[in-house]
Amino acid sequence: MCSTSQTSKVAYCFKGTFVHSTNCSPMEILRDHIMGVSSNGKIEFFEHARNQAGLERKWRFNRSDIRELDNHEFCMPGMVDTHIHASQYSFSGTALDLPLLDWLDKYTFPTESKYKEQELAKNIYSKVVRRTLKNGTTTACYFATIYKDSSLLLAEIAHNYGQRAFVGKVSMDINNHVTNYKETTDGSIAETERFIRELLERKYCRVKPIVTPRFAVSCSEKLLQELGELAEIYGTHIQSHISEADGEMKRVKALFPNYKNYADVYDKNKLLTDKTVMAHGCYLSDEELELFRERGAAISHCPSSNLSLCSGHLDVRKVLEHRVKIGLGTDVAGGYSPSMLDTIRRAMDTSKVLFIQHELGQKIDGSSLHSPHINQPTMPTSQTLLIQKEKYAAITYKEAFRLATLGGSQALNIDDVTGNFQVGKEFDAVLVSPTVPDGPFEVFADDTFEDIVQKFLFLGDDRNIKEVYVAGKQVVPLPNAA
Ligand code: GUN
Ligand code: ZN
Repeated sequence: MCSTSQTSKVAYCFKGTFVHSTNCSPMEILRDHIMGVSSNGKIEFFEHARNQAGLERKWRFNRSDIRELDNHEFCMPGMVDTHIHASQYSFSGTALDLPLLDWLDKYTFPTESKYKEQELAKNIYSKVVRRTLKNGTTTACYFATIYKDSSLLLAEIAHNYGQRAFVGKVSMDINNHVTNYKETTDGSIAETERFIRELLERKYCRVKPIVTPRFAVSCSEKLLQELGELAEIYGTHIQSHISEADGEMKRVKALFPNYKNYADVYDKNKLLTDKTVMAHGCYLSDEELELFRERGAAISHCPSSNLSLCSGHLDVRKVLEHRVKIGLGTDVAGGYSPSMLDTIRRAMDTSKVLFIQHELGQKIDGSSLHSPHINQPTMPTSQTLLIQKEKYAAITYKEAFRLATLGGSQALNIDDVTGNFQVGKEFDAVLVSPTVPDGPFEVFADDTFEDIVQKFLFLGDDRNIKEVYVAGKQVVPLPNAA
């Protein structure tokens, strides 16, 4: 049940180094700061430690309420996974040898069809919630399966472990010839409405339903229309996939010939709102991106999945230039890793690939732009420099960090509650310990704090994630295995 406590007594404080993003800065490293967290999980103050005496008087806390971080330790915001299939966790790290539509038929639908079985669902859903929390994911936007009851179970498990989550019962009524994993149109609408109502009735404070048409390939026009209505009636969030892969795009064109483009299919059915997050978007046109911006809809960038299924690349720089909200998603199991740190790395890799392509394209004459035969970057000459237009900038590690935290919260429209350490938001945080025994990287005497943060982002893993907090409540270390 959701606690409605209005008290603002400071329950505990952290003192030391904090790393977070703001709209103005992709990464701020704030040394020697003190943060107070209230008993209702909110950040009450966040100031330089030189103000400690005044804060102690104002907030009436004792020195014993202050947790002092070690020399290299820091707190960063919890990471936001804006797109993850909880039901695919069992085969993550395998089965990445087919393009999207074949992959769905061969591996995904047969796996998801097993979730009618509650015991199986309980086992795997508990494991994915535990694994993601351990890796610092404080908010997850989950796809479950078409089964209402086991989807409710996922919501209950996330709630019990204290993870902030959106949970979607998947809706799909057409185009699955391989298994019995399909709904009737009316059945899908009715079950989705029941799912929303039953989950809302549970009044979980931080776990909410999200309307989840699988993607336009799997949904009839009537189903899309009715799901758009349900999202409007219940004021829910919406998630789906868009413009991920070539085969999918061709199918959508054939299925929906009267729509202007892929984004229009969702938009005309009221599925593109400021509470929508669409995964992938690799092939969205400028016009579609403009529509996203106008509607306030967001993109979940899933670089690991895009590489693993050879789907394509999303140009994050272009999305940012269009001022479309964007976060990162693991897209387990299309993406093989449930770790958002891994996703941060894949996002940077993808952006660098696009940078290389851009550089090559700029340095050759127009007729051979993007020629596959040109595989050696040439040193710029006065002639090639003349051809060079604007410089393309790959996203930096700081920008990738922002996408994984503040960007994700903006994409899910919860940035008034979480995403960074702004006073008034809930304390969703990861306590990072860069120098754990037997850890995944070394810290050397001449490393700056910025170096240490960078090393954690490139080389760190859950061994460095000492503690995790959601709305002020400690959720990692996890309770013992069930
Ligand atoms: N498009 C429709 N369903 C899926 C899915 O399960 N994973 C991915 N990556 N794309 C999809
Ligand atoms: Zn997906």
